[in-house]
Amino acid sequence: MAEMDIENCILGRRSVRRYKDGRVPDEVITRGIEMADAAPSAGNLQEREYIIVRDPGIKKALSSAALNQQQPADADVVVVFCADLDKMGNYGKRGTELYTPQDIAAAIENFLLYVHSQGYGAVWIGAFTESEVSAILDLPRYIKPFAMVPVGIPGEVPKPPQKKPLSDKIHSEKWD
Ligand SMILES: Cc1cc2nc3c(=O)[nH]c(=O)nc-3n(C[C@H](O)[C@H](O)[C@H](O)COP(=O)(O)O)c2cc1C
Repeated sequence: MAEMDIENCILGRRSVRRYKDGRVPDEVITRGIEMADAAPSAGNLQEREYIIVRDPGIKKALSSAALNQQQPADADVVVVFCADLDKMGNYGKRGTELYTPQDIAAAIENFLLYVHSQGYGAVWIGAFTESEVSAILDLPRYIKPFAMVPVGIPGEVPKPPQKKPLSDKIHSEKWD
């Protein structure tokens, strides 16, 4: 696939929630995870963990845990982004409440941009019952699932979401 420039990649990425039948190659997922893991990590803690799910039964269970959102079941593959809470070092509450969610979010965005650049569609799914996802994936207690990202062949071209004007959000020097 021709290279996509970074601005087009960032601006053209959409949450894709419908997929066509077809396989997303393993190399796209593993390379995507490599891109994800290249994101900044507080103190270089590298607490990120990734679970690749292709099994239809597990994907269906993930859909049910995601308040019956269909995308995990419908997509060819789901990547579950987790954190190893035992790797949080000495950052305490700030680590668990701020650094880890930011580390994971940075990785997810890299992953979404990479799969979009390769012509695949994905969506960030944060609405799920954590205890159910942990049970489905046999996660030990120190592994916390943060998001699941279904990936498939795009079956829709979503419209860009409405955005508030950027000029309302940018502040000069101090809050104004
Ligand atoms: C933390 C987070 C959680 C999200 N959870 C869900 C979700 O559970 N289901 C879903 O369909 N979309 C989810 N989204 C995707 C957003 O709805 C989407 O990014 C937003 O509507 C803007 O659309 P865009 O991604 O096409 O720019 C989530 C996004 C983020 C950042």
